[in-house]
Amino acid sequence: MCGIVGVLGSHEVAPILVEALKRLEYRGYDSAGIATVNDGALARRRAVGKLVNLSDLLVHEPLAGKSGIGHTRWATHGAATVTNAHPHQAGAVAVVHNGIIENYRELRAELADAGVEFVTETDTETVALLTHQYMKNGAGPVEAAKQALARLEGAFALAFLFDGHDNLMIAARKGSPLAIGYGTGEMFVGSDAIALSPMTDRISYLEEGDIAVITRTSVEVTDANGNLANRAIKQIQIDSTRIDKAGHKHFMAKEIAEQPGVIGQALSHYLTDEGEILLPGDGIDFSSIDRISMAACGTASYACMAAKYWFEQIARLPVEVDVASEFRYREPPIPARTLALFVSQSGETADTLAALRFCEGKAQSILSVVNVPESSIARESDLVLPIYAGVEVGVASTKAFTCQLTVLYLLVLKAAKDRGVLSEAALADHISALRGLPSVINTALEQNTAMRDAAYKLSTARDVLFLGRGHMFPLALEGALKLKEISYIHAEAYASGELKHGPIALVDEEVPVVVFAPRDVLFDKTVSNMQEVMARKGKVILVSDAEGIAEARDGVWATIEMPKIADALTPILYAIPAQLLAYHTAVAKGTDVDQPRNLAKSVTVE
Ligand code: F6R
Repeated sequence: MCGIVGVLGSHEVAPILVEALKRLEYRGYDSAGIATVNDGALARRRAVGKLVNLSDLLVHEPLAGKSGIGHTRWATHGAATVTNAHPHQAGAVAVVHNGIIENYRELRAELADAGVEFVTETDTETVALLTHQYMKNGAGPVEAAKQALARLEGAFALAFLFDGHDNLMIAARKGSPLAIGYGTGEMFVGSDAIALSPMTDRISYLEEGDIAVITRTSVEVTDANGNLANRAIKQIQIDSTRIDKAGHKHFMAKEIAEQPGVIGQALSHYLTDEGEILLPGDGIDFSSIDRISMAACGTASYACMAAKYWFEQIARLPVEVDVASEFRYREPPIPARTLALFVSQSGETADTLAALRFCEGKAQSILSVVNVPESSIARESDLVLPIYAGVEVGVASTKAFTCQLTVLYLLVLKAAKDRGVLSEAALADHISALRGLPSVINTALEQNTAMRDAAYKLSTARDVLFLGRGHMFPLALEGALKLKEISYIHAEAYASGELKHGPIALVDEEVPVVVFAPRDVLFDKTVSNMQEVMARKGKVILVSDAEGIAEARDGVWATIEMPKIADALTPILYAIPAQLLAYHTAVAKGTDVDQPRNLAKSVTVE
């Protein structure tokens, strides 16, 4: 993970680096650091924890200079300490790194044999030390960095800065994304275009194996074969107002509240006034597809699981869903006429990208559903469906999840239409229900007080179970994930019917059980499982609609009433209580809602 930035500027660079790191903090916040070259002298400042600690340090120990690199860290190798914080320096070179150097043990052993001493536990220090060794052996900075890069295995985006050179930066990409920003007499490097958006909107992306030698007025890129390469410069439109909570206490609260608006926005991009579903470019014809294979991580994988129910029930199209980190290791045979579909908010998740590349290697057509259209996953797909959720800052995904579901639902309807399995009238009913979704979600958000009250009850629990059946099962998984990631309460989700096959042993009067049970065809069965919980003194929070609550409220600990909606759309609607239960529980516990411990927004390592 980690975010990196580099600037060869015309102003003092420390505040610019810190501002850019703020935009990259979603990639990790275990520590942060910058290095600058001032009057030829390389110096650095590093601090453990959030970026604000680095800003405070810079107030007391400022760093001058117009060239610099910066880093925000999600620790992979070595604890979150100042020593392990980037930039790592060895002699005249400082390095910032996103990714993992897989052969670092071997390189360390080689360096140790040559008498080199290590001060950190990181893989990145090896890069700085190797480069330094090559420089000691007589290579200039560019040659030394290139020699070191040739030795590295794994995934990385790297930026190098050198003592004595305040008009030189080297950037390299293999596996982790890296953007170059073009200014006037200034150049920038960043993990993404968002980081660079206040400085420039002229961006090029390095490709696999590229090395860029950068000065304030030039960028020379060589490709993986060492040949000079041209990387197109694009004008990028990025909303640079991401650091605004719009009056909410947390970004997560703001992003939950934004859902009716962004879902409406997503619908308007894909639906014509006449109710036609329009996909970008040449779109996709599902009549030539027999099977879908989906892969994603975390919340995005739960969106895929919900979509599997829809694709199979509505479009009669078989779907396999994998967590992306397992997909390629399973070495799945991929029959012809299979569509490979990847879902990712960031579009940078390393496991999802690797799964995509696996399918690309099998000559599959690649469709992706992403929130960041400039992301690596988007750029490597044959067809991209943006979800139009807007920038999501809270580490726990909320509006991206419901927008992913909305776009996937539209895709399901398109598939059903192409395959001739849905009558015009039924399709029109689905579309009309979808158009009503933003307003129904608004009504659900009005149940905030009931959700906050139930959350207070959860906040003293040590363990919480979530149950759901059918397409409510992925929502139970999402509810449990949200709760554990931001409140640190242990939570597990089960398909309701699976409870009695083992997990029911956990149930007693100390264990709250959240049951997602809209009054649909599976309601009675889910309620039976809920009764089994209550018979063992489990405390049930029932999330259902008015009818369901009226029928099943006896003996439950708390109820949360959702508005009524077409059965198929309940996975999108019931995301609201999944999110708000977790949010209010975390607020009650006083945890860091937007940046929970140990996590990062974009997971760019495997
Ligand atoms: C949980 C969460 C994560 C992400 C996962 C995939 O709230 O946000 O589980 O869903 O890391 O990230 P993307 O969607 O960026 O590929």
